[in-house]
Amino acid sequence: MTKNFTIPQSVQWKNDHIFLLDQQKLPLETVYIELRTIQDVWDAIFTLKVRGAPAIGITAAFGLALAANNYDENDLTSFHEKLNKDREFLASSRPTAVNLAWALDRLSSKVKSATSVNEAKTILTHEAIQIQAEDEEVCRQIGTHALSLFKDQDKVLTICNAGSIATARYGTALAPFYLAKDAGKTLQVFASETRPVLQGARLTTWELMQADVDVTLITDNMAAHTIATKGINAIIVGADRITANGDTANKIGTYNLAILAKAFQIPFYVAAPLSTFDPTLEAGHLIPIEERDAKEITHIFGQQVAPEGVKVFNPAFDVTPNELISAIITEKGILRGNYKVEIEQLFSSLF
Ligand code: MRU
Repeated sequence: MTKNFTIPQSVQWKNDHIFLLDQQKLPLETVYIELRTIQDVWDAIFTLKVRGAPAIGITAAFGLALAANNYDENDLTSFHEKLNKDREFLASSRPTAVNLAWALDRLSSKVKSATSVNEAKTILTHEAIQIQAEDEEVCRQIGTHALSLFKDQDKVLTICNAGSIATARYGTALAPFYLAKDAGKTLQVFASETRPVLQGARLTTWELMQADVDVTLITDNMAAHTIATKGINAIIVGADRITANGDTANKIGTYNLAILAKAFQIPFYVAAPLSTFDPTLEAGHLIPIEERDAKEITHIFGQQVAPEGVKVFNPAFDVTPNELISAIITEKGILRGNYKVEIEQLFSSLF
């Protein structure tokens, strides 16, 4: 039985609002904010107060339910019209993590069966709650599969935050580290700081330390040296979108690590739920890559560090080609080999 970890949930549904851990304030302050309007939800996703593909999807789902619960419309046609507009609005908050569109689509298709406005509101709320509950179980399953790939005392490198606060609970890439405790395995985690937003330094170290997981922080440019000198056994990362052929978008810097893994001949694992797969896209070059404000690079904690007016390129994600990925760990098991065929089989078996 998995012990109850003392890590906070990032998203909580409170019937008429969302209670959200403000990840921008971590690790110095643990602050929860209330999201009461669809604009609050859009802003929280856009400004990374909530981030991580599954947590973005869960928040957007609650956001749509929240918006719909406040509609005055009495007829279903105008209710659906308004819902579609709000769905589009929330979907526009961030482009790369497909869980956002996945969760909103799931609500939209479920609500089609409603025969009254009241029933539609209930369906939307229930479905959002269900998405969050399922994600917790899915992450636990991913963690169990991922743990089977590690030996006691392994040293594992990760980037960004694919942890509990990026999901409903446990995380994806970080789930095996929590589950290792119960399985009697000791794993040592190396967290790459993840410039420019520092999810590794601020969030991954914060949540792993609370669960007493052995974690060491490095800067991104220390990865090769750390692999060489500390004897890193494997790299594990999360994902924002995985295409039909297994190409994987994840936080900027992930591709660098995959190339390093190949150079050092250590496994490079991607851990992700099926809600992060986008079988409608053939390959990674079709994934929309978010580019963010130049200030994330030219400024550090509000302090300008680059010359005024310098040209900046700030992609938030990169795409790791499938051939660099040793295995993709899902709730349904571990894919390794011909991803195109395995992903097709996985999705056709679901319907
Ligand atoms: O920009 P972010 O912080 O939302 O990016 C998050 C990541 O890249 C995560 O690794 C990914 O979403 C997986 S979260 C389980």
